Amino acid sequence: MKVVETITEMREARRQLTEPVGFVPTMGYFHEGHLSLIRRARADNPSVVVSIFVNPTQFGPHEDFDTYPRDPERDLALLEKERADIVFMPSVAQMYPPGFNSWVEVSKLTERLEGASRPGHFRGVATVVTKLFNIVQPNVAYFGQKDAQQAIVIRKMVADLNMNLEIVILPTVREPDGLATSSRNAYLNAEERQAATVLYRALSLAQKLWAQGEKDAEHIRQEMKALIQKEPLATIDYVSIADPQTLEEQDQIKPPALASLAVKIGKTRLIDNMVLE
Ligand code: PAF
Repeated sequence: MKVVETITEMREARRQLTEPVGFVPTMGYFHEGHLSLIRRARADNPSVVVSIFVNPTQFGPHEDFDTYPRDPERDLALLEKERADIVFMPSVAQMYPPGFNSWVEVSKLTERLEGASRPGHFRGVATVVTKLFNIVQPNVAYFGQKDAQQAIVIRKMVADLNMNLEIVILPTVREPDGLATSSRNAYLNAEERQAATVLYRALSLAQKLWAQGEKDAEHIRQEMKALIQKEPLATIDYVSIADPQTLEEQDQIKPPALASLAVKIGKTRLIDNMVLE
């Protein structure tokens, strides 16, 4: 496994790889969700590149860029075990040198949900993912369904800008009690960790109501909110049942619908989703 820190070294290492090249972009601090993407990339491709870069431009000024969990030594040991070929770990200065002034904006889709709550977030994601694609030149890139809107935005960007690669989205990996794996789960204390299951419980309720024949999306949103409000440590940011193509809220559910939510547990903001098929 080769660990490279500069764009020049990454391009040189890329030239030695056998195609197709599978790529997993990450911000590190690996959990089972990341490992599922890396394993799938390994199973599908003769070459696997993983990037670890905590991207400052996708964090708002009052968000957790400085405190975002990092453990590069552990990550590298895990990548060695998963037989990654190249790990790209650029510095902020490599990715955003002084004078950097070009941005990728995906409009409309990014005005809703996470985009509404975190202005500028998707501009940062779309820009860094474009840069990583240009540097790594993968044939296939792997993302998790846990960040459903990110996956939708990246697919749209790749289609709109004719990027020459395939995007694969893999299912959310959950803890035994349903909590979606996330690097930010590390912020939760024991009591908050227990309370955090409310996201999965609310989504499971939506799934159950839908399976029982409820088609009124607003009724399901209200039931989800009522359940979350019973949890004293939880504060709702949004609860949504939306069209997975446009992210517009649905009145009557037309499957597939994307049920998604953002909830603060104490100070930690968590997101999750399920597709109502
Ligand atoms: O999902 C993430 O970890 C990040 O948003 C990504 C795609 C690596 C871009 O920084």
